[in-house]
Amino acid sequence: MQLTIFKDYHALSQQAADEIIALVKHKPDAVLCLASGSTPLLTCRLLTEKALAQHIDFSGCIFIGLDEWVGIPPENEGSCAYFFHNQVFKDLNFSSSRIHLFNALSENPEQECEAMNKVIFENGGIDLMLVGVGMNGHIGFNEPGVSFDLYAHVAELDETTTSIGQKYFKEATELKQGITLGLKHLLESKKVLMLANGSKKAAIIQKALEGEITNRLPASIIRRHPNSMVMIDEEAAVMLER
Ligand code: GLP
Repeated sequence: MQLTIFKDYHALSQQAADEIIALVKHKPDAVLCLASGSTPLLTCRLLTEKALAQHIDFSGCIFIGLDEWVGIPPENEGSCAYFFHNQVFKDLNFSSSRIHLFNALSENPEQECEAMNKVIFENGGIDLMLVGVGMNGHIGFNEPGVSFDLYAHVAELDETTTSIGQKYFKEATELKQGITLGLKHLLESKKVLMLANGSKKAAIIQKALEGEITNRLPASIIRRHPNSMVMIDEEAAVMLER
């Protein structure tokens, strides 16, 4: 794991966008997995700007959505799908047949998980995963207590996740379960970028990077990954001791 502390959110987002561009230039058929949420928002905007300016072609890439709220349709602006459509697919030329998002309305979510596992496996695994960190230390919807050995699965959401998750929705929304890639996908991904910004993330970043590596704090798994980059801003780094 390599830790980089950036001056601010903009600087870390620039670097994250540059990492994605560099990969796609080198490997035009890269398998990319991105998180949605507040953290990667600026990365996605800068990625779009840079990609358009540099004429980067995403049509050969495979896109994998990290997670989704079970029961929330893609047209709901709090859904992860809505984020991806508006922040990524609108301006970058991903081919629709190469975009793989969980169908959160599926009557058979287990089948959704198996299908996603298959896509990832058949395409040789994920080349780059870009993730944020939840206030309870989750990655995707890998909630505290999750096994490090799971691939895609349906998760019962932690209370912290259901209450903080309200920030994505226009009106109060019942959130109970999430469908998510597993931490085994993260461990097997060729490269992982874990981003965090702002003072609200400082305490969880300190625990994830300096506390015990434990499934009680899923983001601590990042230290087990040999090719991971933790990219945080100065505000998120204030509680680090070392
Ligand atoms: C959300 C999502 C994650 C996201 C994390 C952090 O609930 N399930 O994919 O990375 O929590 O969110 P944010 O970046 O908005 O702080």
